[in-house]
Amino acid sequence: MLNKTFTPFPVLTTERFTLRQPAMDDEQEIFTLRSEREINKYLNRKPAYTIDDARNFINNVNENTDKGNSLYWAITFSDQNISVGTICIFSLSGENNKCEIGYELLTNFQGKGIMKEAVEEVIDYAFNTIKVQKIEAFSHRDNQGSIKLLEKLSFRNSNVADKTDPDLVCYHLTN
Ligand SMILES: CC(C)(COP(=O)(O)OP(=O)(O)OC[C@H]1O[C@@H](n2cnc3c(N)ncnc32)[C@H](O)[C@@H]1OP(=O)(O)O)[C@@H](O)C(=O)NCCC(=O)NCCS
Repeated sequence: MLNKTFTPFPVLTTERFTLRQPAMDDEQEIFTLRSEREINKYLNRKPAYTIDDARNFINNVNENTDKGNSLYWAITFSDQNISVGTICIFSLSGENNKCEIGYELLTNFQGKGIMKEAVEEVIDYAFNTIKVQKIEAFSHRDNQGSIKLLEKLSFRNSNVADKTDPDLVCYHLTN
């Protein structure tokens, strides 16, 4: 049985970062994350076209958190409240005791070890608090940043083809 009670919101901290619930004040950063071409190069998702799209997105992720469907964190430096990226846990399956993980950073903050530090904390939360036994991550096969990150975090290539998109590779980490 998975623990999907996300109220109060589980704020996580690492050496440098605070992972907190997204708020309307994050609208500009969420808009950039979901619209900038370079960040979305390997992501097959509906982009944000307007600030309103970003606002609706923030409302949706917070509703899904309240329902226990998924968890979406804004990553901030602990001494500043401005978000530099996000991490989410979704497709929580009590039947298979597993979930998926996704992440993204604003371009200026990539390549500085930020996501490794943040994802490590989320993995710990997923295994030890939500109690999943397996975390999956899907990445475009050319997304070297994401694949290198997953391998650094000891995820293994599942060697299964995604039925909907042959360019996606599946990685997994088990507890
Ligand atoms: C994928 C992403 C989150 C990686 O985060 P990051 O904070 O830049 O990664 P880190 O700095 O923690 O790096 C982890 C490792 O990956 C390597 N790496 C990071 N970006 C890389 C790139 N573009 N190419 C090759 N290696 C890369 C780092 O060098 C590091 O390895 P090292 O410790 O041996 O040097 C970030 O590049 C990003 O937001 N990309 C756009 C959104 C995206 O594609 N999300 C993933 C969806 S599946």
